[in-house]
Amino acid sequence: MELFRLDNQVAFVTGAGSGIGQRLAIGLAEAGADVACFDLPASRGLGQTAAQIEELGRRALIVTGDVRQKNDLRQAMGMLESGLGPLRVAINCAGIANAHPAEDMPLDQWQTMLDINLTGLFLSCQAEARSMWAHGGSIVNIASMSGSIVNRGLLQAHYNTSKAGVIHLTKSLAMEWCQTGIRVNAISPGYTATPMNLRSEVAEQVKQFEADTPLGRMATVDELVGPAIFLASQASSFCTGINLVVDGGFVCW
Ligand SMILES: NC(=O)c1ccc[n+]([C@@H]2O[C@H](COP(=O)([O-])OP(=O)(O)OC[C@H]3O[C@@H](n4cnc5c(N)ncnc54)[C@H](O)[C@@H]3O)[C@@H](O)[C@H]2O)c1
Repeated sequence: MELFRLDNQVAFVTGAGSGIGQRLAIGLAEAGADVACFDLPASRGLGQTAAQIEELGRRALIVTGDVRQKNDLRQAMGMLESGLGPLRVAINCAGIANAHPAEDMPLDQWQTMLDINLTGLFLSCQAEARSMWAHGGSIVNIASMSGSIVNRGLLQAHYNTSKAGVIHLTKSLAMEWCQTGIRVNAISPGYTATPMNLRSEVAEQVKQFEADTPLGRMATVDELVGPAIFLASQASSFCTGINLVVDGGFVCW
C-alpha cells in the first residue's frame, strides 16, 4: 500500500527511548523512514530503539535533550537536517504521568506536568514546523483519552488538563499552519501497556482499566503503529486538526 509508505522520509520522535514513542519510532522505520530519536540524556532505551531501526536497514540518529528546552530542540533539528536530511514527519510522544489529590497538589507538581506534557509539546511543534516550513510535513501529537474524559479513580487533574491542552493546541496549530503544507493531528490512546502503567499508583487499577475498556484489555504499543503511520503518511492527506481516539471503545461508555 504505497499510500502508507514513508520510504526515505526523515522522521523525528520525542520520547523515543521508551513505551509508545519507542515503538512508534521503530514503526516509522518499518514503513521506510529514517528516524531521529529524541529523549532525555538519562534515557536507557534510546540505544535499543536506534539498534532496531538500523536492523530494519534504515538510518537512526540519537539526539538527547529535554522538550522543555528550546535550544535542545533547535540543536536536534540542526543535527537531524545535517545527519539525515529535511524533516517530513514528527511524532511528539515525550510525556509524564503521576497522581495527587487536586486540593493539595503542590504547585511544582502541577507546573512540571504542564511544562513537559503541554509546553514541551508546543516547543517541539514549533521547532518541527520551522524545519518543515519550506516543504511541508506531518506532525502527530500523542495526547490521551484523558484529554477528553476523566479517568475514574485517577487523581490526575494536572495530567488530564495537559492532555486537553494538547488536543486543542493540535487543532490550533493545524489551523495556523494549514496553508503551509504542514498537517498537525493528534492520537489519543486509551490505557496502553507501557512502563507508565507500571507506576505504583496505578498497579491496583490496571484490572479495573481493563474491565472498563469495552475491548476488555489495554492496548499493546503495536496497536498504535497503524494509527500513527496513517496520520504520518499520504494516507491521511486530507486530515488536519483531528484527534484520533485509539481506546478500545473506552470513551463510548
Ligand atoms: N501508556 C498509556 O496508557 C498512555 C495512554 C495515553 C497517552 N499516553 C501518552 O503517551 C506518551 C508516551 O507514554 P508512555 O506510556 O510510552 O510513557 P513512557 O514513560 O514509557 O515514555 C515516555 C518517554 O518520554 C520521555 N520524556 C519524559 N520527559 C521528557 C522530557 N522532558 N524531555 C524529553 N523526553 C522526555 C521519557 O524519558 C520516556 O522515554 C505520553 O505522552 C503519555 O501521556 C500514554
